[in-house]
Amino acid sequence: ISQTSSASSSSSNLSTSHFIGKKEDIVKAGRVTKLVNGCRDVLVVHHQGQLYAMDVRCYHSGGALQYGDIEEFNGRLCIVCPWHKYKITLAEGESLYQAVDDPTAKPLRTYWRSKGVKQRVHKVTEVNGDVYVMLNDSGEAIESDVYQTEKYRRASLKA
Ligand code: FES
Repeated sequence: ISQTSSASSSSSNLSTSHFIGKKEDIVKAGRVTKLVNGCRDVLVVHHQGQLYAMDVRCYHSGGALQYGDIEEFNGRLCIVCPWHKYKITLAEGESLYQAVDDPTAKPLRTYWRSKGVKQRVHKVTEVNGDVYVMLNDSGEAIESDVYQTEKYRRASLKA
């Protein structure tokens, strides 16, 4: 079961939620990054009235997703990694790509396909103007986990 990230006012258990900031500040900034629970670098995005949260470093090679453009592909909102332009859905962390069924066909017909969930997304809640993230700690490995180490944290601080 994939965990989705969505904006909602909720009275869910906040003991596992981590304060990110005031919603008005996040709306103004559009996106913020934060080290959550001392162990996970998370990007929180506000886009078209919705909040989303995901691991900040791209699953492909550790690119800084906080600098990515947000665009819609095949009706799905994605953040486009600034490094190699991978497209990652904001809500699910799925990686989308364009496939070609028949490379000899003219004109070439392309289709959007999913590589599956590659970027770990987290749950965002808003309570009385405060925004919290609940880390998605599902045991299943997700590719972006690889970049959540001190080594990459230090590297991105230098960047
Ligand atoms: Fe993100 Fe390569 S690091 S697309």
